[in-house]
Amino acid sequence: MRNIVAICGSLRPGSSNHNLLRAAAESAPDEVAFTWVDWKNIPIFDDMSAPTEEILAIANQVNAAHAVIIASPEYNWSIPGGLKNLLDWLSRVGFNPFEAKPTLIMGTSLGKLGTARMQPHLRQVMGHFKAQLVDDPEVAIGHSDQIFNSDGDLIDAAASQLVKSAVAKLISQTPSIS
Ligand SMILES: Cc1cc2nc3c(=O)[nH]c(=O)nc-3n(C[C@H](O)[C@H](O)[C@H](O)COP(=O)(O)O)c2cc1C
Repeated sequence: MRNIVAICGSLRPGSSNHNLLRAAAESAPDEVAFTWVDWKNIPIFDDMSAPTEEILAIANQVNAAHAVIIASPEYNWSIPGGLKNLLDWLSRVGFNPFEAKPTLIMGTSLGKLGTARMQPHLRQVMGHFKAQLVDDPEVAIGHSDQIFNSDGDLIDAAASQLVKSAVAKLISQTPSIS
């Protein structure tokens, strides 16, 4: 079974970015499974402590995946601290779980720019990991309060089409899946 690992930058119940990832999962071919990174209980990074079992499990989960999708909100024009904390941990596990990993960055936010200020920061960090980023299309979707229904389904046609084409591009950049 082919596998894409999904990382959400928001822990909020009802997160619009979680719902964006759900839309991405639904648009992927049936033979591609999605697994979700659960990072809600990880500690705050320091450069004295060894990674916990939970961090190592996440690193192995990412390492074993064929591709990665990160969907994140923008906090104060940048990467949410929780997500950055996770990435800092994953940079200190003794191997690089994102090395050459086909990776799609997405984001949706309440503002009209839809995480466009956050994404260059995240791209820079993932570039340091040597992830193989999808350059185009960029998935930065504004007005996150207007594009999902009350069940969290993506109902905006343009946003839905954008997610579908981005996932298709990710898969086309992932020889082990496409
Ligand atoms: C601390 C904080 C900072 C925020 N900063 C921004 C911002 O810079 N740009 C933006 O568009 N929205 C910002 N927002 C609003 C988020 O877009 C909104 O909370 C979004 O729904 C979060 O994503 P989620 O639904 O996946 O949790 C901020 C929200 C919080 C809580």
